[in-house]
Amino acid sequence: MNKKAIIVGASSGIGREVALLLLAEGWHLGLAARRMEPLLELKALAPERVEVMTIDVTQPDAGDLLLTLIQRMDGIQLYFHASGIGHQNRMLEADIELRTMDTNAVGFTRMIGTAYRYFAERGEGHIAAITSIAGTKGLGPAPAYSATKAMQATYLQALEQQAHQRGLHIRFTDIRPGFVDTALLRGDFRYPMLMQPQAVARDIVHSLHHHHHIRIIDFRYRLLTFFWRLIPNWIWRRMKI
Ligand SMILES: NC(=O)c1ccc[n+]([C@@H]2O[C@H](COP(=O)([O-])OP(=O)(O)OC[C@H]3O[C@@H](n4cnc5c(N)ncnc54)[C@H](OP(=O)(O)O)[C@@H]3O)[C@@H](O)[C@H]2O)c1
Repeated sequence: MNKKAIIVGASSGIGREVALLLLAEGWHLGLAARRMEPLLELKALAPERVEVMTIDVTQPDAGDLLLTLIQRMDGIQLYFHASGIGHQNRMLEADIELRTMDTNAVGFTRMIGTAYRYFAERGEGHIAAITSIAGTKGLGPAPAYSATKAMQATYLQALEQQAHQRGLHIRFTDIRPGFVDTALLRGDFRYPMLMQPQAVARDIVHSLHHHHHIRIIDFRYRLLTFFWRLIPNWIWRRMKI
């Protein structure tokens, strides 16, 4: 097998665990994030099968850097977007909201768009991204986070329809985990139903192989999101979460 993928956001958390699993399956990987040190640690595991690159998705050159990495790998079949930031922001600090928008909305659009145009030209490919269950409702404690996650999910849905209309063979996988024990959930708040990134990554890789369009991880969150979708707005806006 000579499958090739790029993971942006591979330096920690879920992206890193997905990289480890794909490496174990024999994939060639291009790994990117802002921090080079953790990427080099991954490269050390299989130097001949791993390329690394510093990419900050909020910077205007990030799309060009992605194309350079794709070229260096002589093409890819899978683009996996794991980059993201998230904060609770109950006091609505402007800086937190805007940085979240920059990374999760603008940066996401930049990178997913670059991958989409690359696969469109090539005629086929697979785009996968970690959005979140946080995108399925507006969450008072994390407004920019939940809004950008909704945006990401809608964007993928729109691209999937557009690809279909254009007769492009591009597959999409929208991955929506519940709470995962990573650096993103830093702080002393105790999150319920916390999952381990290794288990989440196994579910993700399974979903990639089975070409799932949308994957909510895990079953408890599938139930939770099913029920909270049914909550009418007049109740939702009064709920303490
Ligand atoms: N943890 C959860 O409970 C949870 C739940 C649902 C969805 N998610 C989503 O899962 C994804 C991965 O998060 P995680 O939980 O694994 O957290 P994490 O360990 O903090 O990983 C975030 C990754 O994104 C990268 N990143 C952040 N800003 C970036 C930027 N400007 N440019 C390039 N890369 C950037 C980070 O690398 P550098 O810092 O090296 O750039 C890191 O590799 C995120 O999209 C998150 O929203 C997480």
